[in-house]
Amino acid sequence: MTQHTFVLGIETSCDETAASVVRDGTQILSNVVSSQIESHKRFGGVVPEIASRHHVEQVTYVVEEALVQAGLTIKEIDAIAVTEGPGLVGALIIGVNAAKAIAFAHNIPLVGVHHIAGHIYANRLVKEMKFPLLSLVVSGGHTELVYMKEHGSFEVIGETRDDAAGEAYDKVARTLGLPYPGGPHIDRLAQEGKPSVKLPRAWLEEGSYDFSFSGLKSSVINTLHNAEQRGEEIDPKDLAASFQESVIEVLVTKAERAVKEYKAEQLLLAGGVAANKGLRQRLEETFGDAGSIELIIPPLSLCTDNAAMIAAAGTISFEQGKRSGYALNANPGLELI
Ligand code: KG4
Ligand code: ZN
Repeated sequence: MTQHTFVLGIETSCDETAASVVRDGTQILSNVVSSQIESHKRFGGVVPEIASRHHVEQVTYVVEEALVQAGLTIKEIDAIAVTEGPGLVGALIIGVNAAKAIAFAHNIPLVGVHHIAGHIYANRLVKEMKFPLLSLVVSGGHTELVYMKEHGSFEVIGETRDDAAGEAYDKVARTLGLPYPGGPHIDRLAQEGKPSVKLPRAWLEEGSYDFSFSGLKSSVINTLHNAEQRGEEIDPKDLAASFQESVIEVLVTKAERAVKEYKAEQLLLAGGVAANKGLRQRLEETFGDAGSIELIIPPLSLCTDNAAMIAAAGTISFEQGKRSGYALNANPGLELI
């Protein structure tokens, strides 16, 4: 009989309380997500205090449900993987403490996981990774190009100097009077509009893989205000399409250059903004038939926050012998290394 590795993942870094059981780092046995979006919507963004309360109420149910759906008891779990950072400190603490309590009570090894490592490892639930690879991480809090020469090794070759891509999406959406989270709404409008409004692209200095989206965001807001003052109307669909075009052009061009320079075997898309239809389409057009590189784009349910990705990343750490002690703490500023 082959020996399997069962890892229970727990994720509470922002506004989803999630638990999942993953077998051998590649097969999802359960993936339970309790979203709080409805509670935060009326405030136009995530309210940390409300997020923490939700996590406290939900975490034990979500973990139990993940085990039930996987058809396993806690005794059969080989390791518990939990997001230790980055994220909202009060939200992270709930997951970390739940994980520590279960690990201690049942004497199960505990591994802390970096949230972005999780987003990247969501791809391993789709297809086996081939190294060296590059991952384009685009979420609400992060925009990064990450180089991996092997499992568990992360080198950030470029990152945002100001707003993350998702953050820019959410702020632009708010200006257009769209509900939180705004990314999917802008994406939907953009499909119906034309990129006819002139907006900037932040290439930064020659050769840089860094990103910047705050100038673009301000430019959208100024364009709207100026039109308002002049009594002109700008079609929100065209503005959304123009904004989306600027974001996609910069992301895809930089990813394309990095793939060549680093001779990557694969390009993995990761993070909540990976759900963006326009971005997925452009990446497929650019890399789909290129032959020399394999493009992996996870299904939408694995792009936004979930615990299967944390269990997948945690499985590698566990197999590499990494362990976190009971002193493990939430670290909102955790670096990806
Ligand atoms: O990765 P994620 O679930 O949470 C973080 O770790 O930040 O990402 C959430 C972000 C939000 O900013 C949301 O607006 C954005 O992902 N998002 C999208 C789309 N779906 C979600 N942005 C653009 N287009 C989408 N379709
Ligand atoms: Zn995330």
